[in-house]
Amino acid sequence: MNLILLGAPGAGKGTQGKTLSESYSIPQISTGDILRANVRNKTPLGQKAREYMDKGALVPDDVVVNMVVDRIRQDDCLNGFILDGFPRNLNQASVLETTLKGMGKKIDLAIGIDVEKKELVRRLSGRRVCRKCGASYHVIFNPPVNIGMCDKCGSEIYQRDDDKEETIEARLNVYEQETMPLIEFYSAKGLYRSIDGIGPVDKITKAITDAIAEGNDNL
Ligand code: AP5
Ligand code: MG
Repeated sequence: MNLILLGAPGAGKGTQGKTLSESYSIPQISTGDILRANVRNKTPLGQKAREYMDKGALVPDDVVVNMVVDRIRQDDCLNGFILDGFPRNLNQASVLETTLKGMGKKIDLAIGIDVEKKELVRRLSGRRVCRKCGASYHVIFNPPVNIGMCDKCGSEIYQRDDDKEETIEARLNVYEQETMPLIEFYSAKGLYRSIDGIGPVDKITKAITDAIAEGNDNL
């Protein structure tokens, strides 16, 4: 199963992607996480990406597309993958389609997690992330048991640089202008399902797994 998680910044792609990856035993490919790892390790790719990420802008397509294609070619993706944060514009979506076709693969489903803007801002401004395992928390909605420490691996949790108010606004605008057209792109192919992203995390996971099961029945 090759799945795309679509949704605005803060919609819950990372949170849901982690659980789905465990339950279906297929990797979650988060372009944001891969880019942040490159920034942290000061790789040439990370140094290039940082100036865009700090502004809340998209990193150039050629950089991101090559990164994702390399990742999808790895053996652990043979049974499927979950794309989180990719594609993010029409060009990325069409390059992805062509690349997968060349590999004899295709996208099976694009799940859009729907959350209103006010709630997105609330989620992003209170988000904290584990430096080591990437687990996502929220200071109010989903705090770790011990303040500042990840429940899963015990490492330090921190606030992402792009979760500041000015950058959040820029990211939400980029989403509306560049990424929202993908809803139409995947709807036209009959591959898009929208899920209400408000409510308990488990309830949303259940709605997504139901949509996947329904999609499989229709194959
Ligand atoms: P990326 O890391 O992908 O960030 P994003 O799309 O802005 O999405 P987020 O990770 O902020 O949100 P999420 O949907 O994963 O939500 P989460 O589960 O964490 O991208 C960062 C940057 O990298 C981009 O701006 C760009 O520069 C670059 N980039 C990445 N991909 C690119 C691409 N393809 N092309 C070009 N550039 C690219 O949840 C958010 C918070 O809400 C958490 O605190 C969580 O605990 C909480 N939460 C989750 N679910 C719920 C719930 N049901 N109820 C209450 N709280 C909840
Ligand atoms: Mg994320």
